[in-house]
Amino acid sequence: MTYNIAVLEGDGIGPEIMQEGIKVLNAVSKKYHDNNFFLTYAPFGAKAYFEHGHPFPDVTKEVCDNADSILKGPIGLSLDEMKKIPLEFSAESAVLALRNRYGTFANYRPVILPKSCADFSPLGPNGVGDGIDILMMRELLGGIYFGNKLEGKDTGMKYASDDCTYTREQVERFAHLCFKEAKRAGSKLTSVHKANVMATSRFWNAIFEEVSKQYPNVKLESMLVDNVAYQLVKNPTKLNGVMAFENKDGDIITDLGGGILGSLGLMPTACLNSEGKGYYEPAHGSAPDIAGKNIANPYSMIGSVALMLEKSFRLDKESKDIWDALTNVFAQGYRTRELSNKNTPLDKIISTSQFGNLVEKNILGK
Ligand code: IPM
Ligand code: MN
Repeated sequence: MTYNIAVLEGDGIGPEIMQEGIKVLNAVSKKYHDNNFFLTYAPFGAKAYFEHGHPFPDVTKEVCDNADSILKGPIGLSLDEMKKIPLEFSAESAVLALRNRYGTFANYRPVILPKSCADFSPLGPNGVGDGIDILMMRELLGGIYFGNKLEGKDTGMKYASDDCTYTREQVERFAHLCFKEAKRAGSKLTSVHKANVMATSRFWNAIFEEVSKQYPNVKLESMLVDNVAYQLVKNPTKLNGVMAFENKDGDIITDLGGGILGSLGLMPTACLNSEGKGYYEPAHGSAPDIAGKNIANPYSMIGSVALMLEKSFRLDKESKDIWDALTNVFAQGYRTRELSNKNTPLDKIISTSQFGNLVEKNILGK
């Protein structure tokens, strides 16, 4: 099989972590001769705006339209550079446009930390217990991010507003997917809301209750988002299983998820539409302050490659090889800089490219 992949390296540390992701993709392709990955690089993000006049240029749209799947690096340059970009060309607006164009309503953000890696987490071994294993699912196309906006400058600085709307169709299709994931994992589903204040949350809860009747074996729990923030830090393992978030709550709480893992560098993600097409990216930003230094953690990017192989291409053994290799690198005591501590031997602190080399070596059994 040949798979066409659009590669959007993005900004900051994007290109250097993407290089490691591609290294690992090539390693599985070398190991299993039956697959060819055909890559087309295209500009996307803040650098794309400066070089091509648009953060999501037409050429990139065409490449992505024709691809089976999209691998995306993080976007955004330094605050000073970002200030030079008009609002309608912001890198963030390009991300929203990408989501809209491909209808990627489902965002998978797994928050996983085995007991053996408890030292990464600020919660320590007590907090991590027997391991954190939460699949955070974030709705990505509705709610306040996509509602009408009124800027302060257009009301004489008297007020500003962001409308928040969810349609039945948006909540229903997302709820079904979350129940299916929970059913597959044999876990409970925790639906997160702010129904004590928000009409959209009460609507969301009613639809989740309705859909739950079709999944009698999945236990549905509902939790207020503020309580979720508290419990994630106090008792994260009690939330093990699948969690469902509306767009903005999901944006915020999934970063908290990265925080309890010890690094957003440990959070690969998938953004999918109903046909399984979509894009794969690290949940973290472009870290312009450390760009080009070969010290960023490429785990999230490499894990995103593994998610792509599994979810878009159904290449399960290839995907599993990558996860196993990633686990092995940590089990062998290696740490990227931000995961190291005073007990980490200096020769175990590895660079971005060394991390990729070790994963490659593990996959090829060298
Ligand atoms: C994310 C990011 C995006 C979001 C931005 C870049 C638009 O923070 O993917 O979490 O808010 O959804
Ligand atoms: Mn975010």
